[in-house]
Amino acid sequence: MSNSISVESLAKTYRGANELTIFADMTFVVNPGERLALIGESGAGKSTLLHLLGGLDTPTGGAIRFGDTDITRLNQRELADFRNREIGFVWQVQSLLPEFTALENVMMPLLVRGEDPSTAQPKAEKMLAEVGLAARFEHRAGELSGGEQQRVVLARALVGQPKYLLADEPTGNLDEQTASQILDLLERLQAQFQLTSVIVTHSSALASRCTRTLRLAKGGLFAIESNLPPYRAVTMEAQSHV
Ligand SMILES: Nc1ncnc2c1ncn2[C@@H]1O[C@H](COP(=O)(O)OP(=O)(O)OP(=O)(O)O)[C@@H](O)[C@H]1O
Ligand SMILES: [Mg+2]
Repeated sequence: MSNSISVESLAKTYRGANELTIFADMTFVVNPGERLALIGESGAGKSTLLHLLGGLDTPTGGAIRFGDTDITRLNQRELADFRNREIGFVWQVQSLLPEFTALENVMMPLLVRGEDPSTAQPKAEKMLAEVGLAARFEHRAGELSGGEQQRVVLARALVGQPKYLLADEPTGNLDEQTASQILDLLERLQAQFQLTSVIVTHSSALASRCTRTLRLAKGGLFAIESNLPPYRAVTMEAQSHV
């Protein structure tokens, strides 16, 4: 199905001196257009799962399909290209380049895919205006407030018109009011760009504004809680055995 994310029998074991199995057999589907919240206690494996979904780490077994593409079967170059074109990333750890301007940061994914600066710039400007930062193009990222930086991260994630958005604690370091503004923005952009998204969060406020919540439990099952109506019937069996 187009724009769905389908995780099949996913397994991840960290090898090494302290071998650690995070999940052994996990299966679930994120439906097209869904905004899925992924919750669970610290160390449960949320970031691990998100990194696997984003092709930033390799699973020990199983498949991860974005539409018809199983990213576990792509070579490094194909994977890098897929990530750049199809997936927008919003990470917990601040990932902007502080010495570069907001505009340069947002242009970056387009330049990486070989787009000419003359066409990348207007797209980046449009996206920054979309997140309410039209007056901040020339500010260095390091000179922006936390909320403004998170807007730049969102603009950078979406400038390349991805189909999927993966976010790890997108409101983690923000005060309640700023977090709520970022959520408004996320909701609006998601509808506008028809994104399918997975958002890792410790915030119940954020989870309650997602279409569905999965709880990743250490050594156990995903519990499933319904959120916003209309809530699609659960079309998944999510399991993780450790
Ligand atoms: N590279 C690694 N090698 C070995 N173990 C790792 C590695 N990365 C993470 N782990 C372990 O895997 C487990 C899951 O980590 P992960 O970062 O996915 O948790 P999380 O659910 O995102 O937690 P938090 O809410 O604190 O961000 C942790 O126990 C962690 O110590
Ligand atoms: Mg984490």
